[in-house]
Amino acid sequence: MSFYQKLKPFIFKFDAERMHNVAMSLMHFSSKFPLLESYIAKSHCCIYEELSQNIHGLKFYNPIGLASGFDKNAEAIRPLASLGFSFLELGSITQMPQDGNPKPRIFRHIEQESVQNALGFNNKGARGVLANLQKNYPFCIPIGINIGKNKNIVMADSLKNYELSLETLKDYGDYFTFNLSSPNTPGLRDLQNESFVVDLLDMAHAITTKPLFIKISPDMEIDSMLRVCQKAIEKKVSGIIATNTTIDYSLVPQPAQRNGHNIGGLSGKVLTSKSREILKILGQNFFRQTTLISVGGIASADEIYERLRLGASLVQIMTSMVYGGPSVVKHMNIQLHKKLEADGIKHIRELIGTGINRD
Ligand SMILES: Cc1cc2nc3c(=O)[nH]c(=O)nc-3n(C[C@H](O)[C@H](O)[C@H](O)COP(=O)(O)O)c2cc1C
Repeated sequence: MSFYQKLKPFIFKFDAERMHNVAMSLMHFSSKFPLLESYIAKSHCCIYEELSQNIHGLKFYNPIGLASGFDKNAEAIRPLASLGFSFLELGSITQMPQDGNPKPRIFRHIEQESVQNALGFNNKGARGVLANLQKNYPFCIPIGINIGKNKNIVMADSLKNYELSLETLKDYGDYFTFNLSSPNTPGLRDLQNESFVVDLLDMAHAITTKPLFIKISPDMEIDSMLRVCQKAIEKKVSGIIATNTTIDYSLVPQPAQRNGHNIGGLSGKVLTSKSREILKILGQNFFRQTTLISVGGIASADEIYERLRLGASLVQIMTSMVYGGPSVVKHMNIQLHKKLEADGIKHIRELIGTGINRD
């Protein structure tokens, strides 16, 4: 049993957001000791040529990235990189700082190895985060910046709100993701429509030549999802990140509530099959037309292997780190490498998309 597994029952006695803040402080502390940081990096970062890829001009030395929401303010870039991630998606960042929803707002569903979060884009705002990005520039691995919309901005002003954030942050991301799918900002998911996606990508291409992604919800009606993604591809999106959290509360026995209403979105193992199913559909329709990044309930190398087979070039994880601890990325990379070897696959390129059934 790993040290983290022994510690977990104790950690889980405390509020989830508080424990997250403790983890962030520990990482911040470790970054003050370069020897400690390089020791952690040496023991966690596995470099296998067979797992590395160049995508949109960026070098990913393995397929596993950190999903958006863990480091909202770019406060732990180096410590997180030293855990073995090949890329980090920071944010979501909004143009103006905001506090998010009332606490408590992160809940564990321990039996289901899942999390329910109703944070509501608590972050320091684009200018606040810019300062942290500048401190860490140039970055040691590709850094994605995930942009969300401020809660108090009326729908008609959404585009401008995204534009101002992108303008502020454009020099400090290796790629940008437009988050249209968090369930915690009222109306945000309604922006997953063809007309807004066209305006958004036109606006963004005029500001930057860097790769642009959109992040979608797992709860969209399938035809509508396909239409929105098709339009995004026509407008030269670099890729689709699927998926954000789900509001299908039937997946947990006792969803957390506020004022008698279910709140937030579910991540972790309850999301695994839904997120895999969405990727399967995206792979069938858009493989080779755009880059697919799969996220949602990924907790093992076997699951990563399957997502790659279904057409994902990269994956992201978050909740599996809550349940598996800081060494999950390392173990996933080692296991994935072993699995490729066992199956006689020389490079993950050969695996990606092999499980797509176009019938
Ligand atoms: C605590 C928490 C905060 C999150 N915050 C964001 C966010 O700010 N922006 C975003 O695009 N997704 C956010 N997400 C969604 C994750 O990026 C990811 O899409 C989702 O959790 C599914 O992956 P997982 O099952 O590996 O956690 C958040 C998820 C959690 C659990």
